[in-house]
Amino acid sequence: MPAELSAIDTAKFVAAKRAVAYIEDGMKVGLGTGSTAAWMVRCLAERVREEGLRVTGVPTSTRTLELAKQLGIPVTTLDDAGWLDLTIDGADEFDPQLSLIKGGGAALLQEKIVATASDRMIVISDAAKRVAALGAFPLPVEVIPFGWTSTKQHVEELLAGSDVLGREVTLRMSGDQPLRTDENNFILDLHLKRIGDARHLSLLLNQIAGVVENGLFNDICDVVIVGHSDGRVEVQDLAAGTTTEGRIDVAPSANIFADLGE
Ligand code: A5P
Repeated sequence: MPAELSAIDTAKFVAAKRAVAYIEDGMKVGLGTGSTAAWMVRCLAERVREEGLRVTGVPTSTRTLELAKQLGIPVTTLDDAGWLDLTIDGADEFDPQLSLIKGGGAALLQEKIVATASDRMIVISDAAKRVAALGAFPLPVEVIPFGWTSTKQHVEELLAGSDVLGREVTLRMSGDQPLRTDENNFILDLHLKRIGDARHLSLLLNQIAGVVENGLFNDICDVVIVGHSDGRVEVQDLAAGTTTEGRIDVAPSANIFADLGE
């Protein structure tokens, strides 16, 4: 077990720990992707091991599928699970209305399909991802490889008439090759700096031929849990209109590092 978690990992861990307290016996749960979501998978695995909690996980990426299987969380596909009780995932940015940018880890398509097939979506985050307006983080857009340069041109034309501050569009690379998503698609990153109307932009992007999905999650997230390095957690619940604060023991058990090979 590592001697001490870094400040950022502590923030992610406490947010994750608070989030898995929402999971009840028998629930079907969407398992998000990314470094924060990985903490959630570890915390959930701990509850499965130690409390005998019965859950069915629906992973949002091959990475999360592998981690969940490795840690002994029962998993299935969304098609087999049907409707889910809850999805817990990370985000790249969230605003006061709990609109999100996601897809920094290139899993936005499965993440959006799973989150929108759930009664509730809880986002777990550190405080750095809270923004007044979305857009500083480049907006990922998943496109099919066929004709991607013309899809990119259409996206650029759309941005020319949109309420955004930046308009650069780049193809995400993995080494010297375009990055491939789990569905074998490409990702365009839109460097918008500030998005004026996220709902409108999301609708227009998804009308472009070749665009599969974009990383704006509007009216999908219900609760954001923000973790801090001192163990504090803030829970913002949109429907309840409340923000409450609590505290989590910041010392994870040795077992939680099982997948890290420590
Ligand atoms: C994956 O595609 C993303 O949507 C992630 O949820 C997001 O990038 C957050 O990742 P981290 O928790 O690693 O910052």
